[in-house]
Parts: sequence; C-alpha cells; structure tokens
Amino acid sequence: MSGTFRLAQISDTHIRADDNGAAAAQLRRALMQARDYRADVILLTGDLVNDERADEYTVLAAAIADPPAPLYLMPGNHDNRAGIRTAFPRHAYLPRNGPLSFVIEEFPIRIVAIDDIVPGQTHGFLRREGADWLDEVLSAAPTKPTIVALHHPPFLTHDLLFDKIGLLDAGLFNSVIARHRQVVRVICGHHHRYAVGQSAHAPVIVAPSTSWTYGLAMDQGQEIAPKTTEQPGWVLHAGSTTGDFASHFMGL
Ligand SMILES: [Fe+2]
Repeated sequence: MSGTFRLAQISDTHIRADDNGAAAAQLRRALMQARDYRADVILLTGDLVNDERADEYTVLAAAIADPPAPLYLMPGNHDNRAGIRTAFPRHAYLPRNGPLSFVIEEFPIRIVAIDDIVPGQTHGFLRREGADWLDEVLSAAPTKPTIVALHHPPFLTHDLLFDKIGLLDAGLFNSVIARHRQVVRVICGHHHRYAVGQSAHAPVIVAPSTSWTYGLAMDQGQEIAPKTTEQPGWVLHAGSTTGDFASHFMGL
C-alpha cells in the first residue's frame, strides 16, 4: 500500500427495523460514495442502530454485508455491546469482554477506537481505565500518524443540550491526547451535525449523521434540538504517512 490513506467515517446511522429501510438506504448511499472515492477503510463511529434492538442489528448486518473496503464498527449511546458482539461474530477485532475498544494497525495511518459509552446513559464517560488503555496503546507506536475515534465530542460545542450529554470527562481524554503528538486527528459523531473542535494539539472532527441532522440549541430554555434542513452526510479523511491530513464533508 502506498503512503496515502483514505478513511470513510460514517456515523450515527441509527438503523431501524420499522422505517421501511430508510436509514439503511442512507448508509448504503454513503458506502457507495466511499467506494467511488476509493476509501481504504470504513469506520462507523457509533449509534449504529436506534434502539439497541437485535432486529435493528440484523438490518445493519445486511446493509454492510458487502462493504467496498474493510469496515469497522464502534458503539454509541444508542448501541448495546452484547448486541453488537452477537450480531457481528466475524468482527474479530471487537474484544469479547468489556468496552469495544480496538486498534487497527494494518494501514499507513493507525486508528485507535475507544468505546466511551455508559450503558443506559446518553453521555460519554471514559473513566481512568479507558484513559489508561488509550495512553498505553498510543505509547506503543509514538511515531506513526494516528487517528483516535470515539463517539462523543471531547470539547464544548456551546450547544446547551449536547454539552450536557457529551464526553463528561473530556479533560481526562484531552490530557492523554496531549502526551501523544502523533495523533493527527480525533474523530467522533453524536451531535448529528458537522463541527470542528480541538483536543490538545489535535483537531477534532465531528461527523454528521447519515440519517438526520440537528440544528443548534444555543439559548437557555431550549429543551429539544431544533429541526434543521441541513444535509446529512459523512466525512472522508485523506492523508499520508507524513502526517498531513484533510477532512472533507460529504453530503448525502
Ligand atoms: Fe446519534
């Protein structure tokens, strides 16, 4: 493989079993675009399904049965770890116990995916164990350009609703990233809109949902995210082993 690399990040697919295949069709559309752009790897950054249901994971399994590139799954707050393990037994990179965190080593750029979900809760939380795992795996390859993926944004978005349900111990996460200069990007989802933030030296890219987009709730008293006509989409991250990197929003 050459020193260039393309990662298709597809997030918050929210697959349902009762929507006449609408969410799965959006995912398929994103996969076809990723194929057209010759993505080397595809990473789904959580909220794979809408309600943690086994029949939803069955719909997802059918939608990703023939991916155009190696495809990896991460959990979000709408997911169930046991449900993912049961539905995707061939995804051998998923640990058999505990958080579904893993490292992808076989590409020019290393991908570290960390499971930050809290079962039964909407927010993310890493805890000391998660931070120690991240620190350890990043210490193992200090010179290889690395992308760190998690579901919840590790920065304040100034959306008053989403900041209550973000990564609540983001300071701990960011203190780990600060120790590892090879991290060229942090990527996440959760917010259902495209956004850019910062984690220590690394830009953070928030991918939108393929299913629906939220507007911003920036004023006190707003209790639900406003509707918006902004476009769902995904993100194509392109870079090389020299560490240069660009992230492109792809509308659906
Ligand atoms: Fe979501």
